[in-house]
Amino acid sequence: MAISTRISTLPKAELHLHIEGSLEPALMWQLAQKHQVILPYSSVAEIEAAYQFDSLQSFLDLYYAGADVLRDEDDFYQLMWSYLCRCREQNIVHAEIMFDPQTHTLRGVDYAVFMAGFDKAITQARQDWGMSVLLILSFLRHLSEAEAFDTLAQAAPYYSMISAVGLDSSELGHPPEKFARVFAKVRELGFKVVAHAGEEGPAEYIWQAIELLEVDRIDHGVRCQEDETLLALIKQRQIPLTVCPLSNLKLKVINDMAQHNILQLLDEGLLVTVNSDDPTYFGGYLNDNYVQLEQALAMNDAQLKQLLINSFKASFLPPAQQQQWI
Ligand code: HPA
Ligand code: ZN
Repeated sequence: MAISTRISTLPKAELHLHIEGSLEPALMWQLAQKHQVILPYSSVAEIEAAYQFDSLQSFLDLYYAGADVLRDEDDFYQLMWSYLCRCREQNIVHAEIMFDPQTHTLRGVDYAVFMAGFDKAITQARQDWGMSVLLILSFLRHLSEAEAFDTLAQAAPYYSMISAVGLDSSELGHPPEKFARVFAKVRELGFKVVAHAGEEGPAEYIWQAIELLEVDRIDHGVRCQEDETLLALIKQRQIPLTVCPLSNLKLKVINDMAQHNILQLLDEGLLVTVNSDDPTYFGGYLNDNYVQLEQALAMNDAQLKQLLINSFKASFLPPAQQQQWI
């Protein structure tokens, strides 16, 4: 069987996915009309054509503008439901999904609205095809520590729906140390911890995420190769890295997929995984990311198998449930 067919048929987990980054241009267009939001585009094709980025910030500007069409519970239901249907098509049997509360609360959309929409879609996918889903609340790191504390407090009625807390948005100039105290509180509450680090930011930010935030997983982390001691530590502790190849290409973290270091890191024994990050903005869902690795890096069968095993080993599922898929 061709490797691309095997990729699409094998069960896999996705661990780094921003639900707001799965908003399809067609749904964005439809919701803009529904709520009479004026978009700076005159067609779905124009939205798609605008997705050209030269940095993380140039993407984030469009991503936050796009999220403005999400207003009521049904919008958040549709957003989550369309991603979960993609999971079914792509044989993603387990997903750990990030959401950015502040992207919505700062526009006057409350937790009650988006959590109800997410919950309805997730419950339906669990019942209809046994999909397994965990949610990760992410703080926007360009905002203040006080706002992160506030966001955590406002989530209190929904703690039972949330498994982990993370850190995303503009990395440079917003090091993990800015959030050391709020993540101490996050850990005290019993949540797992993840943080974007070493995407555009330096290896030093990965050190801080490990030592100050005590992360269970690093999102991206591809710049760990710049520091031998750090690389050795990540390997020795088997701290998972949720790597996103198409994202790295679209945001110019790399210039060419052939330069991607994911298979080098894998072959060195790091617990790396493949993920799609913001699939509608970066031109592909999870299987497309695996196919890109096969085409640009000649990923072999053993590497594919290890990446699929890693996707479950790096998850927050209890070991017995991970074993079911390994
Ligand atoms: N990096 C940082 N913040 C984000 C991203 C990303 O790739 N996607 C959504 N928020
Ligand atoms: Zn991300």
